[in-house]
Amino acid sequence: MYLTQEEERIYDGEYGWANQICMKILVRLGELFNATRLIPISSAHVAGVSYKTLGDAPAEFLQALAKADGKAKVRATLNPQSFDPEYLSRRLPKGICEKQLNILKQFEKMGFTRSLTCTPYYLEKPKRDSHLAWAESSAVVYANSVLGAWTNREGGPSALAAAIIGKTPDYGMHRAENRQPNILVDVKTSLRNESEFGALGIYLGKILEDKIPVIQGLNDVSEVKLKQLGAALATTGMVNMFYYKNTNIKANGIEKINVEAEDIKRTIENLPTASTEPDLVFVGCPHCSLNEIKQIANLIGNKKIRDDVEFWVCTSRYIKKKARKHVEKIEESGGHVLADTCAVVTWTDKLGIKIIMTNSAKTAYYAPTLNKAKTILAPLKKCLKTVLKG
Ligand code: F3S
Repeated sequence: MYLTQEEERIYDGEYGWANQICMKILVRLGELFNATRLIPISSAHVAGVSYKTLGDAPAEFLQALAKADGKAKVRATLNPQSFDPEYLSRRLPKGICEKQLNILKQFEKMGFTRSLTCTPYYLEKPKRDSHLAWAESSAVVYANSVLGAWTNREGGPSALAAAIIGKTPDYGMHRAENRQPNILVDVKTSLRNESEFGALGIYLGKILEDKIPVIQGLNDVSEVKLKQLGAALATTGMVNMFYYKNTNIKANGIEKINVEAEDIKRTIENLPTASTEPDLVFVGCPHCSLNEIKQIANLIGNKKIRDDVEFWVCTSRYIKKKARKHVEKIEESGGHVLADTCAVVTWTDKLGIKIIMTNSAKTAYYAPTLNKAKTILAPLKKCLKTVLKG
């Protein structure tokens, strides 16, 4: 891989250990995927911030990097952590909260923004055609497919290294020839809500592997539905991008598959679904936008949340602040708007939660393993019907 003279000097350690180790991570990755050079990025987004998913060893690596003066050279944002300081920190063991805070401290020392969200594009929308190094899979698919930015699906260490060097190896989704669609998906059924868009993603993720689909036949497409579709595609597969508009491409020479109503129905039935009442109703995977919070507040109206079920709406601190009026309404009804975290990356099991109802197919898929909880996948309106009194 070609390196400029300055990159060579970083590689040789002239700019200190933190820069050297990050450069070595990027060069190793680039060589593995036949990149020819490093290219500048406009932002990096690091996943694996929650102490629950990160554990102790990576936390020590972060501490070493921060101590060696590692500093982010570009805008660098962080995925959700394992609790919010207002509500969950009071309910979780003090020891694990302290470990989490220490992780955040290291990131902050290195100049990372305390964004703590999986929807960094609501804080600052990346420019069309800009190159990024993002590690949150749902955000990667959204950035490539909806926002028209260019990013690979980074791992935690490579996004961290890219933030500190300000560059990423030029391979995969950074190259135009790798962004061409190679399979046509014809959706033969009308998807009724965001949960069914998610179910389509779960179904396709399993069969598409890392292909780039053109998805035809999507009705009533909205950003929320595309967000759910992308998050779920990345949950069960390695899809990093899909096309959904101007999809009049010829099917000649390109593989074609149909998706029928039965495929969506079976996908939902095959999720590890509970048949009893939930302990928690969770909305906000991926983190809610301002519009979603407004919609939730409007749907709640003057009603109250049931006393025997918790209701969480997860979002970024930035959006929570912007949505203050709607947040107050949700909280007055008895719900909780949690910033910085989500039900999957916190310890719901330690809170005694055994059944989670959600409108997110991604959560419905992961929670049985990561939260030791059964799940119920249902659209927002049904989630609210379940959790509201009367
Ligand atoms: Fe975000 Fe948590 Fe879902 S990090 S994508 S809300 S699992």
